[in-house]
Amino acid sequence: MDENKKQGRYSRIYRQLEELVPKSDNPISRMATVIAVLHHKMECFFWIGFYLLNDGRLLVGPYQGPVACQELAKDKGVCWAAINQKEAIVVPDVHQFPGHIACDSRSKSEVVVPLYDTTGNLIGVLDIDSKDYNSFDEVDAKELARILKLIMK
Ligand code: SME
Repeated sequence: MDENKKQGRYSRIYRQLEELVPKSDNPISRMATVIAVLHHKMECFFWIGFYLLNDGRLLVGPYQGPVACQELAKDKGVCWAAINQKEAIVVPDVHQFPGHIACDSRSKSEVVVPLYDTTGNLIGVLDIDSKDYNSFDEVDAKELARILKLIMK
């Protein structure tokens, strides 16, 4: 997607989520709302969901798309790399990422963004997969991080 078009799309989504998300004070309900809006509005988001830390395990949370792995093997793949490095990871070609976990073989590129609670503790990640190569860039990482802040506000 053209960069200006993408930025405009994210701005409109942010405004919509700013209205919707605070209607619930429950983090899981808020996550589900964010996932539904992004999945509906961004056509290249083939799979989108949260993986949440639970007693040192990374377990799937609210998501939309094909059935995904319920637990990710520790310290393997893109989601665990984002957790361990505490930073967003953009993967232009998942086949080039060592240890990438393919929940669905159709996924070709991916972005993973850390999710923090209000006190700054890392509690999980937002993971998005595309069926095309090179779907994500720094604009996605930045805009998605901004959206995630709405959840824990
Ligand atoms: N690809 C991820 C696993 C989750 S699925 O993409 C839904 C990873 O390597 O951590």
